Parts: sequence; C-alpha cells; structure tokens
Amino acid sequence: MTEKDKGLEKGLTSYGDRGFSLFLRKAFIKGAGYTDDALARPVVGVVNTASAFNPCHGNAPQLVEAVKRGVMLSGGLPIDFPTISIHESFAHPTSMYLRNLMSMDTEEMIRAQPMDAVVLIGGCDKTVPAQLMGAASANVPCVQLVTGSMLTGSHEGVRVGACTDCRRYWGSYRADEIDADEIQRVNDQLVASVGTCSVMGTASTMACIAEALGIALPGSASAPAVTADRIRIAERTGVTAVAIAKSKLTPDRILTAKAFENALRVLLAIGGSTNGVIHTTAIAGRLGIAIDLARLDAMGRETPVLVDLKPSGKHYMEDLHRAGGLPALLRELKPLLHLDALTVTGRTLGEEIDACGAGFAQDVVRPFSKPIYPQGGIAVLRGNLAPGGAIIKQSAADPGLMRHEGRAVVFENAEDLARRIDADDLDVKADDILVLKNIGPKGAPGMPEAGYLPIPKKLARSGVKDMVRISDGRMSGTAAGTIVLHVTPESAVGGPLAWVQTGDRIRLDVDKRELSLLVADADLAKRKQSRPVREPSAERGYLKLFLDSVTQADKGVDFDFLRK
Ligand code: FES
Repeated sequence: MTEKDKGLEKGLTSYGDRGFSLFLRKAFIKGAGYTDDALARPVVGVVNTASAFNPCHGNAPQLVEAVKRGVMLSGGLPIDFPTISIHESFAHPTSMYLRNLMSMDTEEMIRAQPMDAVVLIGGCDKTVPAQLMGAASANVPCVQLVTGSMLTGSHEGVRVGACTDCRRYWGSYRADEIDADEIQRVNDQLVASVGTCSVMGTASTMACIAEALGIALPGSASAPAVTADRIRIAERTGVTAVAIAKSKLTPDRILTAKAFENALRVLLAIGGSTNGVIHTTAIAGRLGIAIDLARLDAMGRETPVLVDLKPSGKHYMEDLHRAGGLPALLRELKPLLHLDALTVTGRTLGEEIDACGAGFAQDVVRPFSKPIYPQGGIAVLRGNLAPGGAIIKQSAADPGLMRHEGRAVVFENAEDLARRIDADDLDVKADDILVLKNIGPKGAPGMPEAGYLPIPKKLARSGVKDMVRISDGRMSGTAAGTIVLHVTPESAVGGPLAWVQTGDRIRLDVDKRELSLLVADADLAKRKQSRPVREPSAERGYLKLFLDSVTQADKGVDFDFLRK
C-alpha cells in the first residue's frame, strides 16, 4: 500500500486529474470544519445503521459516539456514514429479501469512500450477516460491533422476552388459554428496551458467531444494548479499528476456513438459530470457502449444546453476559476449537481465551459433562425429499417426534396456509405432518420465516403443542418445535417438495438424519410430467435481480454473482 492508498487519498473520485480530485475532496470536507491535521489521520469509517424503523438499533447513536471516542483516543479520524438498516418486523415481504441488497450497499460504500478501516454497527438478524458479507468482499480492515440484546420484561411475575415468549403467548391466545386483554398486556412487556431479541435467536446467534470468527472483540457478543459494558465495548472497538487500520489486518486473514469451523462449533453449542447456517454459509462464500453440511452434521454429533438459553433452554442473553459471556463457552469448547485462528485484536483465539481467565461458578454455560442437549443444536437431514439437505433444530424439538412417520397435509403456499389452517373442516390429525411449499429463496420470494407453521386451531384448542412441520422456508431463531426447514432444492425450482400431495406418507428420523417421501419413483415421475414447475420471474427492478441471481439455502441464499 502506498501513501496514495491511505486516508483521504484513497479511492479518489475520477476527474482525470489526481491532484484536483484530492484538492476538491479536501475543500468539501473542510466545509464541515475539519483541519488539515485531522484529515491527515488514519480514517475509520463507522457504519451507522440507526433508523427509527429499527428499534433493535435504537442505541446506535450512543455506540457511534463511543466508537468515535475510541478512534480519536487512538489518533484516528472517525467518519460515520449510513447504509440500509433492516428490522425483522418492518421489512416486507421479509427481511431476508433485503439482506443481499444491504450487503451490496455495505460493500460498495466501504469501497467507494476513503477509509483505512471500518466499524460495522449492526444487530438485528440480517444486518450482521449483510455487513460481514459486504465487508468480506470489500476486504478493508473491519471490526464488527453488535448493538446488544434488549432487556427482559415481566408479565404478572413471569419474566418475558422477545421473541420465544411472543410465540408462546400467541400460541396460548390461539388455543383460547388467554384472552384478548391479557395478550394486549403481554405485548407491552415483551420488548423491554431497545436492542436485539433477548433469547438465542438469530441476532444473538450472529453476535456469538461474529465473536467466534474473531471479527468482533472478545467478550463483545453478550452485553445488553443499554449497559455501560456495551458502550465500553464500543469505545474499545474504535481503538481496535485504528490498530487494524495501521497494521492493515484485512478480513481475509481473519475469516479463514478454521475461523468458520470455530463459528460452526459455537453455533452448535449455543443451540443457535438455524438461520446461522445460511448466514455463515453466505459469509464464507464471499471468501470462496464452502460450508459442507455433512461436516456440520459430523461436528454436531461431537458438540453438545452447553448454553442454557431460550428457545433450547431457559435463560436470556443478559444472563449469558452475567455468566461471563461467550468466553465462558469458548473455554469449555477449547479442545474442539482451532486455537491458532487469528482475531481482530492481532492475537489468536487461544490467546484471547486464556486472557479471559479461569471463569467462575454460574449456571448458564454448562460443562461438557452436563450439557443441555447431548448433540449440537442443529442436525442435517437428507433423503429423497431433500437431496440438497434440510435442517432441524433438534435441541428445540419434541423428543417424541424425532422419529415419526405420518400422513402429509399439504399447503401449496403461504396464502393457502393462511386460508385453510384454522378452518374447522381442515382434515388434520395430531400425528399428521404439515407441509408448506413455495416459501424458499425464489418461492415466496426471500425465504420468509414462515416455516414455523402454526398448529391448526382445532388441534391447538385440544391441547396439541407440537407437530412435525416441513417446508423450504426458514424459521425465526426464537421459535421452537419439530420443524424441518431449508428443504433443498426448494419447490419453486422443481425440488421434490413440489410433488408432495396430501395423503402421501413421510418419514422423519432425526437419529438416522433421514427425511423420506414414501412415494414410488414412478409415481413421482408421473406427477412431475403432469404438473411441470415454472420458476418465478419478474420483469424489472430488484425483484428481477433477486429471482435471476439468488442461490439455494445450501449456498447461503446469496446472489450467485456476489460469491467468490
Ligand atoms: Fe431485531 Fe429480533 S427483531 S433482533
């Protein structure tokens, strides 16, 4: 790197005269009152994803301020800039539809603007993956800072938090166990502060994955959004950003195959969100690293769930923080980790774990000898229904349904499901298997979190709490149940799921990792011939780009042209 590739001289706007380009750039930024001394410092970009539509990032202004303080304490010049911000509940049709767009925004703005390092401030489910995907492609020194989890609330003496409890209470309301007045009162308590969901949902999972990858500071995943710890982590992140700007520690040296294996170990041991598999695959794909589902499954058989957080366990993210945060888990996992993986601090993961000390007595992170679940949270299924694989969060499923054969009750798409699921005349029994098609990457589009099919009202009222449910979609990391997701290839592109019909028999055997459609090949071939699938398409705009370019779940649902 030459002097011309540093600071404000980086990536000059093309006017055909380099000197004039720099002269003009300086003139404009001096309009904001900067001195030549300030402008000669290493420049640290700070991605500001504050948005009034994104309460999960409600503390972003304080974090930006603290990061800037850290940068300036280290002699750098912080400059914050906006990108797209995505919140789960404010993104139609689904946040996943916009993740790749945010990653492109992040990548191109990091590349277009002059910065020697960048701090990525994200938190809500799709934002951290989008930022890491974009930053990995831009390959400018970067450090991830998560906004942190929200606080828990209390409803009639019961501790509650988004969003495992949102689903639990809504299930009770659907089953007529609580009334409209009570569900309204619960609504006030589920999200007790700004910050990300308080359980081991996708946001918490991605925070832990970022720390395990070494691209976020050690101990930074768990501090709640509104705590002094979170602000201090932000200041230290700013300090780190200046250090990596000077040492030119680019993400490709941190985000290695070993780092991704460490991240998958952590995903399995925290009982993390199934979405973590897709996002990790997408980030790795930006570096040309393939995530092998068979390897993930093999790792799962030797990696127990040790973190006792909802939805697999009982605690919340703030409890994990009090228990010592992710380092408490990494210490337990040490024999299974690549300890020589480099982190953003310039030290290895092993050195960072050792620096965190011996730990203390607590009941949130279990020892190997007393796991929450004997295997990893996520199992990979194969069979004629999912030749490209499917996954199940076994740690949050009903043990009684892990080996189950049943009759398929099929819904053709999300609209069909909404229309019929609560009908009194729906032909469904508790031991049936609910199947939902056309909610995959292209089908919905955007692979919405509709894989958590509701229990049909008539069964819910009679006390049914769980059923085997199968789809090509995703589900929220905060949800629980015997739910098979990410069936690949999806039905909208002619995967076997497209040909399942009500009355077919399906066998799920999680122990054998099997998902089979018990229909003769000849019958399936006839169905394919009589009802050919037409892939969805669009005339223009982002939808066209999305449908033309999106990959299947086993490739991370990234756009094909963005993968390395
Ligand atoms: Fe933002 Fe859950 S909705 S983290």
